[in-house]
Amino acid sequence: MRSGKFFAYLRIMSNTILIGAQWGDEGKGKIIDVLTADADVIVRSQGGNNAGHTVIHRGKTYILHLIPSGILRRNKVCVIGNGVVIDPIALVDEIVGLRDLGVTIHRNLLISDAAHLVLPYHRALDEQRELRKGRARIGTTKRGIGPAYGDKAARTGLRISDVIQPSLFSKKLEGKIRENNAILRALGAKPIDFDEVNESYLAAGQTLAPYVTNTVVYLRRALQRGREILFEGAQGTFLDIDHGTYPYVTSSNTTAGGACTGTGVPPHRMDRVVGVMKAYTTRVGEGPLPTEDARVTKMLHEMGREFGATTGRARRCGWFDAVVTRYATMINGIDELAITNLDGLDNVDPISICVGYRLNGKPLDVPPCDSTQWINCEPVYETVRGWKQSTRSARKISQLPKLARDYVSRISQLTGAKLSIVSVGPTRAETIVV
Ligand code: IMP
Ligand code: MG
Repeated sequence: MRSGKFFAYLRIMSNTILIGAQWGDEGKGKIIDVLTADADVIVRSQGGNNAGHTVIHRGKTYILHLIPSGILRRNKVCVIGNGVVIDPIALVDEIVGLRDLGVTIHRNLLISDAAHLVLPYHRALDEQRELRKGRARIGTTKRGIGPAYGDKAARTGLRISDVIQPSLFSKKLEGKIRENNAILRALGAKPIDFDEVNESYLAAGQTLAPYVTNTVVYLRRALQRGREILFEGAQGTFLDIDHGTYPYVTSSNTTAGGACTGTGVPPHRMDRVVGVMKAYTTRVGEGPLPTEDARVTKMLHEMGREFGATTGRARRCGWFDAVVTRYATMINGIDELAITNLDGLDNVDPISICVGYRLNGKPLDVPPCDSTQWINCEPVYETVRGWKQSTRSARKISQLPKLARDYVSRISQLTGAKLSIVSVGPTRAETIVV
């Protein structure tokens, strides 16, 4: 009895939140895919189809936007939590696309009835706002994410529970379209056609209905049965609506706390936070990136790397920034680190590491609140020697060149968390568990 309880406790002890420690695209998809081996349930808690998680499995490349990456493994349940904003048509497309690739989607996908919907007027408004901002634009993915979360916060959003109740949905939608068309017309944009949206959303709602449930209750039961849950973060710490480079952020809480509010799983059930970060830094879209470097960007692009999975945009690249990863450790309570894309630095020598900032001559070891100040921060670099050889075949930390080992230990030390995974290539096999 006693030992049974003890073992149940041990299993519960590994509910893991995985988050990005930089500006997104840290390679979370791959690390989630690796960690999924030990999890029973994989949950998305925030973001929408602005996310793009690339996973390579058995020679096939999968790009997932809304469905947790765990879907590629058998006997795992994937949950889209209440904190996610769902474009139901994009979700249906994703399900169909995965099925075409031979992935089974049956009882292994659950969708929260409380998740908010992304509607065509959200996308139209996203585009209009960006256009109007001109050079001050955020560089959004134009998926309607900001306006959808805006409606949620304004208490005027439509949810999954609405779209599976046809007459209720049509009524609510009519009012929403009328209101938003007035705005779109005033902005000189094309109004949205009610019938078209009503029809296509209700059809998507019907396809999704079998997966829709109260996921809070499902997750609670899963925990009671000792199931291990992996919370799959999307975007990254500095795209967080509260803690990121505001206003150059996304509209959800991408940090560890978002895993609780976005799923209804209480904080004391979370046991471990894994922070994923690249061995260098990238971001897509506008906003601060103090270590941005034209040579690093050119080199990575010439290697065919760092093009966005969702929009195909070329990412901005720079040196590793320990100011941001250290702050990410603070905000998320990162216990363990997964360093990805180490192989991206295989041909670089010397390598710079940003260990602090200077703003108007004053040293800073945490980023400033204001994005304009953040943009003006000058990185303080320390320089280390590069290893100048391929790391792709290393499967144990001891198989990495000494200088590469020194580099990963230095960046973990500066970040202030324990190193647990190093990724040296895009496939599952190209992973070192420390
Ligand atoms: P939104 O989330 O589409 O509103 O975009 C806001 C900002 O977040 C833009 O800079 C986007 O490029 C960025 N962003 C959104 N989703 C992702 C992602 O999954 N990876 C990287 N950047 C993202
Ligand atoms: Mg991505």
